[in-house]
Amino acid sequence: MNKIDHLSRLKNSKLVAVIRKPKRAQIFQIAEALVAGGVEVLEVTVDTPGGFEMIAELKETFGAKAIVGAGTVLDAETAKRAIEAGADFIFSPIFDGETISVTNRYGKISIPGVMTPTEIVKAYQMGADLLKVFPAGSLGPQYFKELSGPLGHIPLMPTGGVTLENAGAFIRNGAAAVGVGSALLNKQVIEEGRFDLLRETAKKFVETVRNAAERE
Ligand code: 3PG
Repeated sequence: MNKIDHLSRLKNSKLVAVIRKPKRAQIFQIAEALVAGGVEVLEVTVDTPGGFEMIAELKETFGAKAIVGAGTVLDAETAKRAIEAGADFIFSPIFDGETISVTNRYGKISIPGVMTPTEIVKAYQMGADLLKVFPAGSLGPQYFKELSGPLGHIPLMPTGGVTLENAGAFIRNGAAAVGVGSALLNKQVIEEGRFDLLRETAKKFVETVRNAAERE
């Protein structure tokens, strides 16, 4: 699959699961539960010890079923390392021009982090494919409704503080997708190895964003 196919798959599924600092022994069970719950886009944050290796392993095992990318990428060097490990997309809480350039150079999806309208437009002009608007929970769904007027042509992905309660509102207010970490990958649920519950929560998120997109 090339970048265009990956991007349209991401936008169709409308949900990115942010797997922050998973334990190596649990990464496969986590990914399996998410994929079984219908999640099609998996992000491993590279502040995870062994994060690059996990990306490579997830790509090998789940590459046919899911798009696998790297998160918390703060510079171009880290982006290149993640791409070498097999990352399909580079996700970041910040906006760094060199990181966007390297990601584009290797034909991967660039998702920098932005907050203001000026940052959104600047990052998009520099070649970002999708904008992670962070921290979305603090900005609230209404922020996206207001942005959808002047900046409705730019695909936005609210992330940080997205929950089952607000995910639908973000999509209905014009977001192209949502990025979800702790509300999906509940720390206690993972620690206790309750992967059935993780799969059920994943299903609920998938249904919520799908229903919201249908009513958009
Ligand atoms: C993160 O920083 O891990 C992502 O932005 C997800 O945040 P969340 O845990 O609030 O969903």
